Amino acid sequence: MTGLERLNKKALATDQGAIRTMFDKAAKMENVISMGIGEPSQDTNLAICRAAADALMSGKTHYAPNAGVLALRRAISRNGFILKDFFDPEGEIMVTNGGMGAFALIMQVILEPGDEVLIQDPQYLNFEKTVSYCGGVAVPVPTTFESGFCMDAEEIRRRYVKGKTKMLIINSPNNPTGEVAPEEKLREIAKAAVELDLLVLTDEVYGTLLYDGAKPFSIASFPGMKERTIVVNSFSKAYAMTGWRLGYVAGPKGIIDRMTKVQEYFNSCINTPAQYGAVYALEHPEFAEEIRVQFEERRKIALDGFSSVKGIVTNVPKGAFYLFPSIKGTGMSSTEFCNRLLDEARVVCVPGNAFGECGEGHMRVSYSGKCEDIIRAIERIRNFCEKI
Ligand SMILES: Cc1ncc(COP(=O)(O)O)c(C=O)c1O
Repeated sequence: MTGLERLNKKALATDQGAIRTMFDKAAKMENVISMGIGEPSQDTNLAICRAAADALMSGKTHYAPNAGVLALRRAISRNGFILKDFFDPEGEIMVTNGGMGAFALIMQVILEPGDEVLIQDPQYLNFEKTVSYCGGVAVPVPTTFESGFCMDAEEIRRRYVKGKTKMLIINSPNNPTGEVAPEEKLREIAKAAVELDLLVLTDEVYGTLLYDGAKPFSIASFPGMKERTIVVNSFSKAYAMTGWRLGYVAGPKGIIDRMTKVQEYFNSCINTPAQYGAVYALEHPEFAEEIRVQFEERRKIALDGFSSVKGIVTNVPKGAFYLFPSIKGTGMSSTEFCNRLLDEARVVCVPGNAFGECGEGHMRVSYSGKCEDIIRAIERIRNFCEKI
């Protein structure tokens, strides 16, 4: 008996994502530079660590409320979202196990089997996976390099099916493209969402990482949106706190109430001392700004480097820490290019088609690593592209 025969169909259908597959392959090789992972290379600011350690040492070692420590929910309301003091810390906000923990709870309380969720293509892989694991059907909304990989309201309307389409997911700044949706485009999308009576999940985890004068903006601020929008955010990228597993979510009271109840049965609550560290982080937004400035420098190095690589044309996105260059000029598919790049040049990038059909012909480049690694990786990519 292997145990597999006892598993349900959903578990059996779950496979490893393309990003992990690439890492597993790279882990068996030597001298590899990664531009694959979406994780800040910086350690968490020591003052934030100290605040969590102080909480631990002063007896904050017990269960926290299911929705999160109230001091943290208040700090989140004040300073954690693009929209300041917009959500009520007592009822409209809860703390989750990372942004990913927020998706899991959202999908569990909202989706009925067969409900359709519109998601842009290319998209962050976990959206599709959590939707389908919770019984929903992810419906891709195609986007193009030329339009900055931003969804068009008309494409959303075209894919809407009355009685089936329940939710729309927005992610700006975006993973995997780094693009920031223009305010005008978001206004059109908001109009369509109100007209079609859709719930909107807006993932704003990269909301502090903006460059070239891009302004933070949330779709939740348009008329008629607050009552239908669930905003997901996280400490992972903004404060370099990926390992802390701290995210948060705001939305209509009825939805947050049910998510809090489901949290009780699945996780009980989120790590208590970590939540006190997070309060300190939100009281010091200058830490997030420091990180943004560091990424701004890395972005410049990456864009300068790619501007002269044969066969590669990159987008110039204004957010997050990703580029999504076209590799069509090399004549290879995304998978072939990224596999050969790893085998022959020892650089990890993620094939664009891992994020959806519209990602074919592209690769995701993460410039979240150290400056010297970005420089060395692009030099290797340049040599590889000269050779092929
Ligand atoms: C778009 C997007 N949303 C959410 C997350 C989740 O981050 P975490 O669970 O670490 O908060 C990620 C992580 O890569 C992401 O890229």
